[in-house]
Amino acid sequence: MFAVISDIHSNLEALTAVLDDIEKHGIETIYCLGDVVGYGPNPGECLDLIIERTKWCVLGNHDYAVFYEPTNFNYAAEQASFWTREVMEAAGPNEQSRKWWRFLGILPMRRSLRTRLGGRIVTFDFVHASPRRPINEYIFPDDVYTNPVKVRVLFDRVSHICFVGHTHVPGVFLNEPDFYLPDELNNVYPIVDGEKAIINIGSVGQPRDKDWRASYAYVEEDRLHFVRVEYDVDKTVEKIKAVEQLDDFHADRLKEGR
Ligand SMILES: [Fe+2]
Repeated sequence: MFAVISDIHSNLEALTAVLDDIEKHGIETIYCLGDVVGYGPNPGECLDLIIERTKWCVLGNHDYAVFYEPTNFNYAAEQASFWTREVMEAAGPNEQSRKWWRFLGILPMRRSLRTRLGGRIVTFDFVHASPRRPINEYIFPDDVYTNPVKVRVLFDRVSHICFVGHTHVPGVFLNEPDFYLPDELNNVYPIVDGEKAIINIGSVGQPRDKDWRASYAYVEEDRLHFVRVEYDVDKTVEKIKAVEQLDDFHADRLKEGR
């Protein structure tokens, strides 16, 4: 049994609520798909929790932006990366801040896991964005209609189940191609032999599917469960608005999940 979380975006209230919920389910193993930082007000606190509580994490484009440089970011997102970097630099140098930088500097682009689930062997791949461009390519639900060739080509790089984040919109892609929202699946996707799936687990700290609650997923036996968790969104909004370098849009969008 394991949980997968992604796109925390320095949202401590959302991350804490999700970690509590994971604990309530009795799940000890957590994997993270990146974008620990960026947009939100608590980068250091979120890095500490991710380092302490997850088994491993892969590199997201916002983690890359803070450690290396922002690529293809809009102005507000770029400013948030530079502010995050300033906060992390101002906190050190000390052992804690060195731990943050070391963590960001060695994040891999992908991880894989082969495990036995309910009597069958399943291969899971974990990337932030997509199986062919692991940190930057968006796979949007609309792609199954507007760009089906792209989705089929992506599936050539999937051995069985591939977890992604990045768009902040949870759901399951099949190689028909097809896309199913968690609601359409009653929040459960049964993992089947021979059926490839790209599963977006949504975002902990900045959901964009019109639902403000934090999103994550967990696997139990051969079933994947999508979960939503309420958190103190007003507190996060207030904190973002109090920081001049963080655009108010990053706060306003949280309340609407957009
Ligand atoms: Fe993200």
